Amino acid sequence: MSRRGVTVWFTGLSGAGKTTLSCGVAQQLRAWGLPVEVLDGDLVRQHLTKGLGFSKADRDENIRRIGFVAEMLTRHGVIVLVSAISPYRAVRQEVRQYIGNFIEVFVDAPLEVCERRDVKGLYRKARAGLIQHFTGIDDPYEPPEQPEVVCKTAEQSISECIDLVMQSLKSRGYL
Ligand code: ADX
Repeated sequence: MSRRGVTVWFTGLSGAGKTTLSCGVAQQLRAWGLPVEVLDGDLVRQHLTKGLGFSKADRDENIRRIGFVAEMLTRHGVIVLVSAISPYRAVRQEVRQYIGNFIEVFVDAPLEVCERRDVKGLYRKARAGLIQHFTGIDDPYEPPEQPEVVCKTAEQSISECIDLVMQSLKSRGYL
């Protein structure tokens, strides 16, 4: 029997820890020999969604294209790990319905913490007015209302958060 695929969708502010967590989960799953693909916003925007900006329309298009690929892979038994800010609830709901086998992970870190981390130096630029429409600064983020998993990366360790995601995959019969 072929295995059931699933998309694990990490949503949250820039710097909340989406990439770190999705890579950590990917590493564990690969170590078990499971088929895994990672679709990361920063990387996807260099090819699949190249040319798209950060207006609501462009972000929604970004999410729909990622969702399109994630659905195909999921259908073929892959565990797909998506990390994208995906700030708008409605389009997240849309890809959830479209993909079906879907686990939403809210990577929940306060803006102050993300801004203090400022891994890419973008918050500083946004505050200085050098980047417009930056999520959390002058662009909205709509938190999930009923995510399957919440990872509070300012309070929990990375390995605790990875465990929460692994548990949710297990309890739903994907592992
Ligand atoms: S999404 O909103 O369409 O889901 P996505 O996750 O693909 O965003 O890309 C976000 C990344 O783009 C951020 O981590 C950051 O590196 C970069 N970025 C550049 N401009 C912006 C902006 N205005 N708002 C948010 N992220 C931005």
